[in-house]
Amino acid sequence: MARSSISPTGKEVFFDPDDVIVSKTDAKGKLVYANDVFLSIAGYREGEVLGQPHNMIRHPDMPRSVFAVLWETIQSGREIFAYVKNMTKSGDHYWVLAHVTPSRDAAGSIVGFHSNRRVPSRSAIEQVEPLYGEMRRAEIAAAGPREAIAAGKEVLQRALDAAGKSYAAFIFSI
Ligand SMILES: Cc1cc2nc3c(=O)[nH]c(=O)nc-3n(C[C@H](O)[C@H](O)[C@H](O)COP(=O)(O)O)c2cc1C
Repeated sequence: MARSSISPTGKEVFFDPDDVIVSKTDAKGKLVYANDVFLSIAGYREGEVLGQPHNMIRHPDMPRSVFAVLWETIQSGREIFAYVKNMTKSGDHYWVLAHVTPSRDAAGSIVGFHSNRRVPSRSAIEQVEPLYGEMRRAEIAAAGPREAIAAGKEVLQRALDAAGKSYAAFIFSI
């Protein structure tokens, strides 16, 4: 089912705190692996996800700028942690704390990406949700896609400045 045809239900669903949601993509972000926890929470069969772009589980509430920062970071060869609200096949949502990292071949070239996700703390989501809401509103009010990403990043940077922390330190402080 095309992602755009799924409407968010507003209902949150949960996975087990002992579980890890795992996915791997090729260098362009197309899914090449999803573990059973991924398939079970997202509500898809393996055949429905393999070969699809990872944005198939994107929730419309997620700021574009979060994914812009994610891709800038991993494409430059670094790892990133991010809180992400994902959408299931039925339009429900689930929050994750994702770790995304490049996979390299023996020569050191990036051949794809790997993500492990755990259940985030409720207190982190209580802080991230309003921040993402503000980022999303700034993006929607912007003149175009490029301006939207800049506007979302600006809101994020203001929050980091107010906390006096780098992005990575902020993620683990909440
Ligand atoms: C390894 C890996 C894991 C990703 N995990 C997610 C995820 O759980 N949810 C999500 O919405 N996007 C995830 N993304 C980012 C998507 O590729 C995409 O940038 C994002 O969904 C925004 O889609 P859009 O650029 O079409 O707006 C992941 C990317 C990679 C490389």
